[in-house]
Amino acid sequence: MSKLNHFLSVKSTENPLELADLALSMKNNSGNFKDSRKGLSLCLIFFNSSLRTRLSTQKAAFNLGMDVAVFNVGEDGWQLEFDEGVVMNGNKAEHIKEAAPVIGSYFDIIGIRAFASLENKISDYQEQVLNAFVKYSGKPILNLESATTHPLQSLTDVVTILEHKKVARPKIVLSWAPHPRTLPQAVPNSFSEWVLACKFDLTIVQPKGYELSEEFTKGATISYSQEEAFEGADFIYAKNWSSYTDYGKILSSDPKWMIDREKMDRTANAFFMHCLPVRRNVIVSDEVIDSAKSIVLKQAENRQYAAQAALFKLSEME
Ligand code: CP
Repeated sequence: MSKLNHFLSVKSTENPLELADLALSMKNNSGNFKDSRKGLSLCLIFFNSSLRTRLSTQKAAFNLGMDVAVFNVGEDGWQLEFDEGVVMNGNKAEHIKEAAPVIGSYFDIIGIRAFASLENKISDYQEQVLNAFVKYSGKPILNLESATTHPLQSLTDVVTILEHKKVARPKIVLSWAPHPRTLPQAVPNSFSEWVLACKFDLTIVQPKGYELSEEFTKGATISYSQEEAFEGADFIYAKNWSSYTDYGKILSSDPKWMIDREKMDRTANAFFMHCLPVRRNVIVSDEVIDSAKSIVLKQAENRQYAAQAALFKLSEME
């Protein structure tokens, strides 16, 4: 497997299963990789909140012997301008054209978390923030969840599926579930493209109007009935997302879409997955998430090995 220039989406990897295998070998042979990147530095830049991504990526860097700085843009930094040719007489004090190369001059790898605005579909789907760091920082960029994808989450999801699957090509169902707030499409987009790139059998089930961009879902079976989609499933991955077509809108809050025991009973004794954080008894019932088939904590634990594999390949010499 060749080195990663950036880790922005599944397209950054030649073979996502090889990267997942590397993460698994890092989990099972941690001593082999300890301090293997000593002397290198990582800056994690957060435009949005995080628990798992922040801590697991720091832990991954520590395991490799890297030094880490965390920068919360909203609290600690100047507000950044990303548009070209703007007269900067408003509240944005610094342009990305200066900020990114300055950060790039201090660190070897830069991680960015910048969620979708859910107001401007064009700039969100053009990945304005992430791509500005790619363009101007001069350093490898690690996507910590961008407007359209969350590859570290998807890599951990693939790792966790590999650890639990009992058949060569499991049936995986990505199910929309209700949520009181407007959420981006990054996790379901990313999960879909990774699962499809790994050649697993993917069904996406959602209410009408919640179809994701075909850029990420081409090759998946699309369903509008949880009862039908859950039949014979090996993994159920629950997630809420807002509408892609009616961009950023909540079109349904129907509580009948919550994942409960009755629905899980239709599956082939499926494992339950979610990226966390999760709203109990809104997305999923207590009974399901607390059951022996729930692997949400395994997914979260594996985040550190996914991040470790990505950092290792980003910092590999040519
Ligand atoms: N799943 C995930 O990315 O969690 P955080 O938002 O807490 O980082």
